[in-house]
Amino acid sequence: MSSLLMNLDEIDLEGKEPLTEPERQYYFMAKCRKWVRHKEKELNRALTFSVVTFGCQMNAKDSEKLAGILEKIGYVQVEGEEVDFVVYNTCTVRENANTRVYGRLGYLNGLKRKNPNMMIALCGCMMQEDAVVDKIKKSYRFVDMIFGTHNIFKLAELMDTRLHSKTMIIDIWKDTNLIVEDLPSERKYSFKAGVNIMYGCNNFCSYCIVPYVRGRERSRNPEDIIKEVRELVADGVIEIMLLGQNVNSYGKNLKEPISFAELLVQLEQIEGLKRIRFMTSHPKDLSDELIEVMKNSKKICRHLHLPVQSGSTDILKKMNRNYTKESYLKVAEKIKTAMPDISLTTDIIVGFPGETEEDFLETLDVVKKVRYDSAYTFLYSKRSGTPACVMENQVEDPVAKERFDRLLKTVQEIAGELTGKLEGMVEEVLVEEVNTQDSSFLTGRLSNNTLVHFKGSDELIGKLVSVKLSQCKGFYYFGELI
Ligand code: 5AD
Ligand code: SF4
Repeated sequence: MSSLLMNLDEIDLEGKEPLTEPERQYYFMAKCRKWVRHKEKELNRALTFSVVTFGCQMNAKDSEKLAGILEKIGYVQVEGEEVDFVVYNTCTVRENANTRVYGRLGYLNGLKRKNPNMMIALCGCMMQEDAVVDKIKKSYRFVDMIFGTHNIFKLAELMDTRLHSKTMIIDIWKDTNLIVEDLPSERKYSFKAGVNIMYGCNNFCSYCIVPYVRGRERSRNPEDIIKEVRELVADGVIEIMLLGQNVNSYGKNLKEPISFAELLVQLEQIEGLKRIRFMTSHPKDLSDELIEVMKNSKKICRHLHLPVQSGSTDILKKMNRNYTKESYLKVAEKIKTAMPDISLTTDIIVGFPGETEEDFLETLDVVKKVRYDSAYTFLYSKRSGTPACVMENQVEDPVAKERFDRLLKTVQEIAGELTGKLEGMVEEVLVEEVNTQDSSFLTGRLSNNTLVHFKGSDELIGKLVSVKLSQCKGFYYFGELI
């Protein structure tokens, strides 16, 4: 069944609701659409929605699925939160992500008072925490529905339940093996798309809440992934981003195991697909086979995000990362030798419990040895329920902050030295959008993920063009169309 073609008009709403997915959800989408049409008549206007995404690429992808369902129901997507249906797709990886959501809920309450038709849905990682749900139940009673990371596909069914109930709907699943295929998805870009290849994480890094809120690792079948990518390409997509918390362990638990590298080889063969990206890679699982496949590939982009988290072997052990400083450096070296033009990026946590000045200097040492093109640096944030939260020797805030500043300076110095390396060269750029500062310019991306701004007309959006990288401006280039 091709879901995008599934016609809601053909669904018999008098009949019983189907028990299998995705048919069940299409039934509820049809039911909700009937309600939306009725409301439109009553209010004499279209009903609007927006999905606000906090957090990572996984959440961005989930938001596209939520938007796909709401569009199918008949809502019209707009910017901002003054809408008839707002979804906050939340993140909880660090404490400040939670704080931001609570801060904005007060604002939503004000909007709902003005628009009694407004529905407010909260979903995503933060909602998988019991303490969060309790707090919302108690202090934010105007919220209409709460669901988690495992059942976003049920949005229409939950909305229907809410329409027949006077109270907040809460539906949180603790874990699941269910992967529902063939639901609608509303892509933000016509020419590039994220594709989930796996869900969840089994690594249990001791600081990280993800395995608790996203559940155990589950890989999608390669046939389903390939089918989705083929359909995307037929629909105009030329670049895909394969998404998973740890893509390097893709396929290991499937009935017929397959490696991530093998999946890439199969995807490479899809005609019309021009670029393949993926994230995130775990250093402990990065295989020689993958490096070989990347090296020989014409489509896999010259960018690898390889989170190191810390350069100290002691801290890495406490983090449960399963590699040492030396083994990480060895993998990074292998990658750079195989692909000298690759851009390496990373994530680093500063102030993990027990981190001494010596440990921190090991991190600086790794940064200087690997020479990352860019690095996301984070202050360690305590997440309740994780092993690190109760570890001894939590680092004092001012000490962590001072280390963070030193790290950032080093990261930026090196990144600044590296970005200029392509100056004067002609490179292929995927044009993404009209420049937000100056509309006579376009903005696009190199294979290595660096942004390029150059003069051109918006007809080029979504196309691969050759651009001379005339001038490096720190973290991006100004170029000329060739
Ligand atoms: N504190 C700080 N940073 C964290 N990350 C994950 N958990 C925490 C935490 N508790 C960072 C890691 C990860 C990135 C997505 O977020 O660096 O790679
Ligand atoms: Fe968190 Fe580690 Fe899994 Fe990444 S690999 S999501 S840091 S537990």
